[in-house]
Amino acid sequence: MLKQIESGVVRFPVSVAFLDSGTARLTVDEERRLQGNILLRHGSKAQKRRYNEAEKWTISGDLTPSKKATSLTKDGITTVQYGAGQRFEATIRHYPFTVEFGRDGQTHIQLNGRGFLNIEHWREKKEHENAKQAVLDIADQDSWWEESFGGFTDSKPRGPESIALDVVFNGYEHVYGIPEHASSLSLKETTGGKGQYVDPYRLFNTDVFEYEVDSPMTLYGAIPFMQAQRVNSSVGVFWLNGADTWIDIAKTSTQGAPKTQTHWISESGILDIFIFLGPTPKDVISSYTSLTGTTQMPQEFAVAHHQCRWNYVSDDDIVGVAKRFDRHSIPVDALWLDIEYTDSKKYFTWDRLNFKDVDKMHRRLDAVGRKQIVIVDPHIKDEADYDVVDQLKAKDLAVKTSKEDSYRASCWPGQSYWIDCFNPAAVTWWKSLFRYDTFQGTFPNTWLWNDMNEPSVFGGPEATMPKDNIHFGGWENRDVHNINGLTYHEATYQALLARSRAEEKSPRRPFILTRAYFAGSQRTSAAWTGDNTATWEHLAASIPMILTNGIAGYPFIGADVPGYFGNPSDELLARWYQAGAFYPFFRAHAHIDTRRREPYVIEEPYRSVMANAIRLRYQLLPAWYTAFRHAAGSGEPIVRPNYYVHPEDSESFGIDSQMYLGSTGILVRPVVEEGAKAIDVYLADDEVYYDYWDFVAYSGKGRHTVPAPLEKVPMLMRGGHIFPRKDRLRRSSALMRHDPITLVVVLSQGGDANGELYMDDGETFQYEQGAYVHRRFVFDGKLNTLKSENFGEEGKLAKQYEKTVQHIKVERIIVVGVPDEWASKAEVNVNEEGSAPIQVTMTYHQGRKGQLGWAVVRNPGRSIVKDWKVEF
Ligand code: NOJ
Repeated sequence: MLKQIESGVVRFPVSVAFLDSGTARLTVDEERRLQGNILLRHGSKAQKRRYNEAEKWTISGDLTPSKKATSLTKDGITTVQYGAGQRFEATIRHYPFTVEFGRDGQTHIQLNGRGFLNIEHWREKKEHENAKQAVLDIADQDSWWEESFGGFTDSKPRGPESIALDVVFNGYEHVYGIPEHASSLSLKETTGGKGQYVDPYRLFNTDVFEYEVDSPMTLYGAIPFMQAQRVNSSVGVFWLNGADTWIDIAKTSTQGAPKTQTHWISESGILDIFIFLGPTPKDVISSYTSLTGTTQMPQEFAVAHHQCRWNYVSDDDIVGVAKRFDRHSIPVDALWLDIEYTDSKKYFTWDRLNFKDVDKMHRRLDAVGRKQIVIVDPHIKDEADYDVVDQLKAKDLAVKTSKEDSYRASCWPGQSYWIDCFNPAAVTWWKSLFRYDTFQGTFPNTWLWNDMNEPSVFGGPEATMPKDNIHFGGWENRDVHNINGLTYHEATYQALLARSRAEEKSPRRPFILTRAYFAGSQRTSAAWTGDNTATWEHLAASIPMILTNGIAGYPFIGADVPGYFGNPSDELLARWYQAGAFYPFFRAHAHIDTRRREPYVIEEPYRSVMANAIRLRYQLLPAWYTAFRHAAGSGEPIVRPNYYVHPEDSESFGIDSQMYLGSTGILVRPVVEEGAKAIDVYLADDEVYYDYWDFVAYSGKGRHTVPAPLEKVPMLMRGGHIFPRKDRLRRSSALMRHDPITLVVVLSQGGDANGELYMDDGETFQYEQGAYVHRRFVFDGKLNTLKSENFGEEGKLAKQYEKTVQHIKVERIIVVGVPDEWASKAEVNVNEEGSAPIQVTMTYHQGRKGQLGWAVVRNPGRSIVKDWKVEF
């Protein structure tokens, strides 16, 4: 590609690649910078090239170009057919340069159709004799060079270097994604109209104090992935760039056909964009995650309930909190320690005055399968006699200033240095710090919380480090800023994998919670939405935020329950727990200035409401874990928005207050309004939906009012699904591992249903070798039979694992939506492979006022690992 400028032409090498998966990729670089043929100002030692290593951190999938794509060039236009069945087509116009992507003969995505493609080519700064002359010289504005604000000066040694491109989604009215923002699921226009934003959505990982909701302002994480939706068609783009990025959105129409125009601008780096042509939301997300990876299958405890606070002040405090949960029969799996557990914010040390017997504390937690999560941030305190900082300095592993000194600034501990995890040597060193013998007081049940990794810098420009700071390899923070947090939590992941003790037979899957993230972070960490506030607005905002991450490949996310800052009212507390029980990551957390608000300190009736929400989470853990399996396998969201489940229903596309739990058919609409007694739930189809609690039926596409008294989480079960539960209350998920299963069979209008159960050891990687059970349950409405079939592939360790869980039985089958004829049935036949058939009692319950009833089969006694059939 050429750009004509006053003094000649500038060359931009372009490449377009097509992958077997049906994904296309366009990259544009700048020849002169690529050749290193530029002058750096201020004696900078930064790289002269544009940053082209984002791929190294982000892409874990195969990028080999497809051999099956075919192309034809004629009259300055190249057309490429690619994807399964050559269904996709790219039309590349050489001049003016545009690329159109189509499916089945229709254009869906246009690049540079509006001519906004721009790459700020390198130019030499002209030195002006006076300010007036500089202003007149529009080709060389001073603001393109050093930039000063808030007392900071960014030296910009390579001068202006931004990249920009317009991406138009033809025929699409809704676009989603580009987390992290406290905004709606369906993204708003940024052109300033009524109800729209005035500023573009920004992606620049930042520690924002008391962030606003309903805003395009940047937050802690960045995933430059966008999905567009119209009836029965979904497409997407991924803008692979780790620099400060802005996205403008405008909606318009041509001859009655809607389109969404987007305009992407990044401050530096190469232009690198991937195109996904769907056609379903699931196709788009699985293509995207086949490049950037899926969420790791978490340990089971990580899917359960976590209790955190800044801060539990001593080991006695932690043990006391655990005890009080037990006394009130409220399950909890992990107790967290925020920064005050350390000796003066020196990570890898303990405040031994308050944490006198850390070993005992861990043993007490471990005795009931509980874990301890401790925080370790990336800033390392600069203090005498702290061996961690001594090592960091001696090994020269800190991020550097533009002058090549180690960057020293302030964070929690006071003056600190920042580990530079772009440096492989820093990762090697980091690994050594987490060994059980070096990080004393940690055990196999200790896991990690990585915070402040945007990085947050107190008093720094925009509360982070200067953009001209230098990372390993000579890259400016400007180039890699949004990737920085990922490098840090990935280093911690490596460290936790490496620390396994000799006596640990099989390494456990590391659990890490990160605040800053980038595309690819999902592979190794869970995330949370940072420092929210205990208000109803923040509660409401948490749902679209979580849904957005889910459809952007990062489904293991939650928001602080019940709001980090402030003291929530009892009603808000109760409602927030009900919502939180449906966050994929479910953790209570609180700012240091807040009152204690663990469920057991709250007055009734609110305490029971909170406790019941937590118990509901545990009851549905088998369903959650199964949903995680799908997220780990194909990148599917764990909680799913309406449009994702019903891409055929355009009225669903703007809905972001309700969510489906995996493929269970459970539709939850948490109450986020103060004083609500009832709420509206939108049903996207004519299937029958039953209330989870009393089996009252709702049917008919459209809005339905569902009672929502304080004690009730509004939840419906869509007909046609089967989901597993564990109904016995215990102190932690580990103690439930061998508990029997209840199957809830919700019959569709046609009388059918199906569903799944996935189980493994909940800890190790052995599931990768087949150590798991994956069953499919099918209810056949014509034959009135329920069958359990194997759904997994026989792996090496399958049989060995099966033996450890074969005693787990189905203890109850609840069939919802049964016809009146069932009233006369009192028994069902149960057949299991290898055993003689048996008869088991069934109780029929009549439905309310003309509604269908339900039936309960108690103790069919079938093993969860066997094939069996129940005849009703
Ligand atoms: C900021 C985090 O967002 C918050 O959750 C934590 O409590 C504080 N840092 C203190 O570590």
